[in-house]
Amino acid sequence: MRRKLIAANWKMYKTPQDAEAFMAAFLPRVSGHTRDEIVVCPPFVDLPAVVELARNTNVTVGAQNLHWEKEGAYTGEVSAAMIKAASCTHVIIGHSERRQYFGETDDTVNRKLKAALAAGLTAIVCVGEYLKEREAGLTEEVLRRQCVNAFRGISADEGRRFTIAYEPVWAIGTGKTATPQLAADAHCMIRNEATKALGKEAADMLRILYGGSVKPENAKALMAEQEIDGALVGGASLSAESFAAIVRY
Ligand code: PGA
Repeated sequence: MRRKLIAANWKMYKTPQDAEAFMAAFLPRVSGHTRDEIVVCPPFVDLPAVVELARNTNVTVGAQNLHWEKEGAYTGEVSAAMIKAASCTHVIIGHSERRQYFGETDDTVNRKLKAALAAGLTAIVCVGEYLKEREAGLTEEVLRRQCVNAFRGISADEGRRFTIAYEPVWAIGTGKTATPQLAADAHCMIRNEATKALGKEAADMLRILYGGSVKPENAKALMAEQEIDGALVGGASLSAESFAAIVRY
């Protein structure tokens, strides 16, 4: 049985002060919750405040992006080692918004995954198809391409140390959620690819999260699917009440 992971992706929302207010309201609502792993991924500038407040609690902290180089002349970028040194445990890689607006490719996702693993971070690698791809019957092909490239050069051992988030782009921030069955089918395709690339043992352990308009009202049905190993939550993670309700689905 894979333990579920419920992760908040705050995107470009919340100042450090907002983040502190969130944590003050959120932590008491989930204290003692051990069934699922809980991760909050705020913007970089909020990390110190959130890490400090999450210390010695059941909540860990992740970043939303990283650069694959260790250091260098890359203005505006942050390395895996820096994120690790800021006491983060996780990092999101290849979110569709980064692929769409910031030129992230399957190749940069692969480089970033290797950098995250080398630094001892748990990566949450995002994959997912556009609506036009789904409508054209290309979902499986897109997921295969994204997975094959993400997994390139990753060993079975390393395969145990990251997570995939299936986020159909048409479901992100749109209020349209994939049905639990549709998500479970996509998760099976991803696990198939993981089996080919990393072997059965690592693929069986791989947690595949669902993301895309997860809310308190639909979390229970999604999490009931055996193939869905948790959630990556955007909009509904910005309020402590609604994110706590999702964690406690
Ligand atoms: P959403 O975003 O929950 O607002 O749809 C999910 C995500 O982009 O990770």
